[in-house]
Amino acid sequence: MAVGEYKPGLEGIPATQSNISFIDGQQGLLEYRGIRIEELCRYSNFLETAYLLIFGELPTAKQFAAFVEDVNYRRRIKYRIRDMIKCFPESGQPMDALQSCIAALGMFYPLADLHDASFIYDATARLIAKMPTLVATFHLMRQGNDPVAPRDDLSYAANFLYMLNEKEPDPLAAHVFDVCLTLHAEHTVNASTFCALVTASTLTDPYTVLTSAIGTLSGPLHGGANEEVMRMLAEIGTIENVVPYLERKIKNKEKIMGFGHRIYKVKDPRANILQELAIKLFDRFGHDPYFDLAIELENQAAKYLAEKGIFPNVDFYSGLVYRKLGIPTDLFTPIFAIARTAGWLAHWKEQLADNRLFRPIQVYTGRHGVRYKPIGER
Ligand code: CMC
Repeated sequence: MAVGEYKPGLEGIPATQSNISFIDGQQGLLEYRGIRIEELCRYSNFLETAYLLIFGELPTAKQFAAFVEDVNYRRRIKYRIRDMIKCFPESGQPMDALQSCIAALGMFYPLADLHDASFIYDATARLIAKMPTLVATFHLMRQGNDPVAPRDDLSYAANFLYMLNEKEPDPLAAHVFDVCLTLHAEHTVNASTFCALVTASTLTDPYTVLTSAIGTLSGPLHGGANEEVMRMLAEIGTIENVVPYLERKIKNKEKIMGFGHRIYKVKDPRANILQELAIKLFDRFGHDPYFDLAIELENQAAKYLAEKGIFPNVDFYSGLVYRKLGIPTDLFTPIFAIARTAGWLAHWKEQLADNRLFRPIQVYTGRHGVRYKPIGER
């Protein structure tokens, strides 16, 4: 391959063929299995959307009831996993805790046979079921509290908020959280999904596939950006500081967190949905002055960044929604991971169905023919 063909970050290079989701970055369009994200957020729910992503079609009522039951039944985690979490440092990053827990799950549910459909199904239901429990358990235990057992009578979203706060959530809060999960569930071959594909292509187990993906999601250029947005709004502090902050960042060639996307060259459609959800929450539970800062930042940033096609992405407004739901900032990225588990598993299955080991080539830029020099001569 000629050196000129190298594209940093593989920009524009197809890494796979997939029929799971589609983005039109010029139109601001996102579809899961052909259905627009706006429609899924309005009419579906996270577990139904997860089914759609993983199995390719919307479930019938019977299929959906069975899937919900199979997920609910697997929500609990083993005592030994709880004991392990107890040993984690309280100051540990929740994403690191989650990654460690998923790696450990692989030891409790070892790889049977990747050709065995029931193993694939069990692992899929188990991973979707246990992710929220693991996040909530670490959060409570790092504060010295006992974990709260999942409640089978609550929906997926309501149960997570319940486990976090030991209190049944308001129905609006549960609904908004469920929509957040739906719109984070899948997003083509982003960094963590690509990482999941590479790991899956070695034919390792699904727990290892997810462990790789969680690690990749945790970085500030990917899932970690929503936490950075909240830190940025805290640093800005007042409306008067928005323009000086922006000008300083632009002058220093620093990134504005929650802005920009490799594919979208218009505002991310998920940011529009999250903005509406935030307003719904404020109408019900009270306004958040950070929202005013965010709106001012979006308006002012357009003057500097719109011509480059840089607009708010999914991470810009998600933190404001989570903050109003009372979720601590360092759980924002683990929540992203809970939702994206559906997409990762869908891509894992798709990769297995037509697997070839990922083994790209590199453009070597080093030396050749160098003679070894003994240590005393260096
Ligand atoms: N603020 C200011 N300038 C930006 C930003 C930003 N957020 N993003 C890109 N640019 C500029 C960048 O400085 C560069 O300008 P120039 O051509 O003058 O040097 C140009 O746009 C291209 O930037 P890039 O970093 O090469 O573009 P990319 O396609 O690699 O960037 C990105 C994609 C998401 C990494 C980047 O936009 C970014 O770092 N954003 C901030 C972090 C963030 O919000 N991440 C969440 C992404 S969406 C959710 C997810 O994937 O998890």
